[in-house]
Amino acid sequence: MANENKWGSNIAFVLAMIGSAVGLGNIWRYPYVLYSNGGGAFYIPYLLAIISLAIPFLILEYGVGYNYQSSFTKAIVKLKPKFEFYGWILPVVVFIMTVYYSTIIGWDGIYLFLSFFKGWGADPNTYLNVNLLQATDSLSGAFNFIPFIAVFMLVGWFIVWLISHKNLDEGLGRVCEIFVPLLFVVMLFIVIFSLTLPGASIGLSELFNPDWSLLWHFDIWMAAFGQIFFSLSLGMGAGFTYASYTNDDIDLISSGLKVIFANCAFENFAALGVFSILGYMSLQSGTPVSEIVSQGTTLIFVAYPQVFNILGTIGLVLGPLFFFTVYIAGITSMLSSFEVLSISIQNKFALSRRKATLILCIIGGLASMVYATSAGGYILGIADIFVNNIVVILSVFVECILFAWIFKAERLIDFMNGRSKHFKLGKWWLAHVKYIIPILLLVIWFGGLYELIALKTTDAVIVLIVLALILIISSLIFTLLPAKTKEWFKTEERIK
Ligand code: PHE
Repeated sequence: MANENKWGSNIAFVLAMIGSAVGLGNIWRYPYVLYSNGGGAFYIPYLLAIISLAIPFLILEYGVGYNYQSSFTKAIVKLKPKFEFYGWILPVVVFIMTVYYSTIIGWDGIYLFLSFFKGWGADPNTYLNVNLLQATDSLSGAFNFIPFIAVFMLVGWFIVWLISHKNLDEGLGRVCEIFVPLLFVVMLFIVIFSLTLPGASIGLSELFNPDWSLLWHFDIWMAAFGQIFFSLSLGMGAGFTYASYTNDDIDLISSGLKVIFANCAFENFAALGVFSILGYMSLQSGTPVSEIVSQGTTLIFVAYPQVFNILGTIGLVLGPLFFFTVYIAGITSMLSSFEVLSISIQNKFALSRRKATLILCIIGGLASMVYATSAGGYILGIADIFVNNIVVILSVFVECILFAWIFKAERLIDFMNGRSKHFKLGKWWLAHVKYIIPILLLVIWFGGLYELIALKTTDAVIVLIVLALILIISSLIFTLLPAKTKEWFKTEERIK
C-alpha cells in the first residue's frame, strides 16, 4: 500500500499541486472575473484574499493532511468519529464538481479537435449555441442527448482513469512532472505572441483600467474570494490529499507559497494573453472590447475561434496550442478533485487504487451524461452555484473549525517551522486560522446565498433539490456502509 500512494519526490508534490490549482478557473474564468469586477481595482480584494485566506488556510490544510497521511474522511473519523457524515460531504461535493468540470473539458476537447480545421465555421457563436450545445435555458432540453459531446466527455474520463489507476508516482506524479512545466511554456509562447498583435494595448488598457468605485460594492469582494477559492483548489480536499502523500522531509510552508505564486502568476499572465487577443479582434472588427467580452464565460469558445479565423494560417497553429493548453490544465485539475473521493473509498472499503479509480470513473462518466444534453449548460450553471456558493464554503468553515480548534493548529507550528528556512508561522497565522478565516467564510457564505435567491425559477429549484439529495444520500450511504478494514479507525499521526 505504501508506494501506491506516495510521491517520488517533493517536486512531484509541488508540481501536482500547481497542476491542481492551474485549471479552467485560471484560463477560462479569471480574465473575465478580473475584467468585470473593476479591472485594476480588483487587485485590492484579490491580494487581500491571498494574504488573509489563501496563504494561512492552504498551510493549515497541508499540515493536517501531512499529519494524518490518509484521506480527508479518514482524518475526520480520527479527529471526531461522530463527524464521519461530514467527512463524506466534502469528497462527494467535490466529486459532483468533478463531474461538471469534465463537461467543460469535454467541450474543450471538441474545440481542440475542431481547431485543426476551424470546424466551427465562419460564425462560432451560432456554432456553439445552436449547432453544438443546442442549448436551452431550462430543463426542457434534458432529454435531448447529444452523442458528439458525450464522446468527448467520456474521452476525458478515460484519460483520468488511465492516469489515476496507476501507482501515484508513476501516474499522477509523472504526468504532472511532464505536463505542468509544458503548460507554462506553451502559455508563455501564446501570451508573447498575443502581446505582439496589433491592438493588444487596446485590450490591455480596457482590462486594467481601474474602476475604483466598485471597491465599495460587496460583489467584487465576493468575486475575489470566490476566485481565490476555486482557482487555488482551496479547502476542497485536494491540497489535503496531495499533502498526505508527501515524504517526511517536506517543507510545507514554502511549497504552499510556491503553489500560490505559480497559480496567481499563471492566471494573470493568461489574462494578458486573453485581452491582447481581444484587443486585436476589436481593432479588426471595429467592435468595442466590452461588447466582445459580454459573452462572459463562453468567451474562449466564441471569441477565440473568431480570432483564430481572422488569423488565417497562424490560427491553425495557435488554435490547437491554445485548446491543448486548456485541456492539460483541465485534466491535471480534474485528477486532483477526483482523487479526494477516490482515496476516501480506498481507505474505508479496502479497495486497491485500480479498483477504486475504475468504479469512480464509470460512475462519474455515466453521471456526466446529464451534461451531454441540451440542458447541460443550464444544469452546469446551477450545479456550479450549488457547489461553490453553498456547500463548499460552509463545509470549509466546518473544516477550519475542526482543524484549527479541535485538531489544534498550534500543534503544527514547531513542526512546520522546523522545516522551513525562510518563513515561519507565528501568532498572526493562528489568529487567521482560528478567527479571521471562519468569520470571512461566514460572510462570504451569506453573500453567496443572495445569488441563489436570484435563481428562483422552478427548474433551478428542481436541480438544486436533486443535487442536495444526491449529496446527502450518497454521503449517508458511505457513512453507514461498514468499513472493510480495521485500519479505518486507526490512523497514525506523523506529528507527535
Ligand atoms: N483549481 C481548479 C481550477 O482553477 C479547480 C479545482 C477546484 C480543482 C478544486 C480541484 C479542486 O480550475
